[in-house]
Amino acid sequence: MLKSRIHALDVLGTAQPSAKQAAAFALRDRFDAQLPSADGAWSVPNKPARPLAPPLASPKDMPRRRLGTQAGRGALLHAVAHIEFNAIDLAADMIARFGEHEAIPDNRRAEFILDWAGVCHDEARHFGLIRDRLTQLDMSYGDLPAHDGLWQAAKATADDLLARLAVAPMVLEARGLDVTPAIIAKLKSVGDMDSASILQIIYDDEIGHVAIGRKWFDFMCESQHLSTVETFHSKVKTYYGALLKKPFNEQARDLAGMPRTYYAPLAEP
Ligand SMILES: [Fe+2]
Ligand SMILES: [Fe+2]
Repeated sequence: MLKSRIHALDVLGTAQPSAKQAAAFALRDRFDAQLPSADGAWSVPNKPARPLAPPLASPKDMPRRRLGTQAGRGALLHAVAHIEFNAIDLAADMIARFGEHEAIPDNRRAEFILDWAGVCHDEARHFGLIRDRLTQLDMSYGDLPAHDGLWQAAKATADDLLARLAVAPMVLEARGLDVTPAIIAKLKSVGDMDSASILQIIYDDEIGHVAIGRKWFDFMCESQHLSTVETFHSKVKTYYGALLKKPFNEQARDLAGMPRTYYAPLAEP
């Protein structure tokens, strides 16, 4: 087993938020795809370690987010913190679960792992930015309930790397690109420039995450002589199971290298 996969398991196995963040930074900073370690009994957890707070609740029980009030902005930022916390685990899971996938040739393996270690590092940084902003608003990550929908997508795609790439970066993170500019504009309109500038950093980085997802999705399809677009459609239908919400941020999706042929045919009417 490659050492970086063990470092990824450290991320997944760490519950406390600052410690998980530190493990995520170490995953990239101690990147090591070459040295095999002693093989032992190990398995990738179905569920990553999580702190006791926030309690997980149904999406319909989430606090309201009226961005004109400090409480509403706190609720929004808390939800984003939870997304970023999940995203740390999703990137670590990509390495722990799929880092030695047989469809990735040996001469591309280090690149695969380093790409996702970089994403994991970004997500840990995003989590830290939002957590520090919550502190300025007299809140902490864990103060409000959060929902577990994100990890459901990970569970559904645990056995299929193409499905994971289609659903996590190319559907869910791409959806983030669609909705974030309006949230940034709303935060600016109520004068919360600090929160707006953090979401702008996250938005800019997430374009890169969608691009990395698309790069490996296309690579995997081409190496198995599969049509990229048809395979994307079939994986999303099987594993995501819902039509994609409009409107799409075509400009950001273009920057991420994802043409309309991927997502437009899957759009809701
Ligand atoms: Fe992020
Ligand atoms: Fe991301």
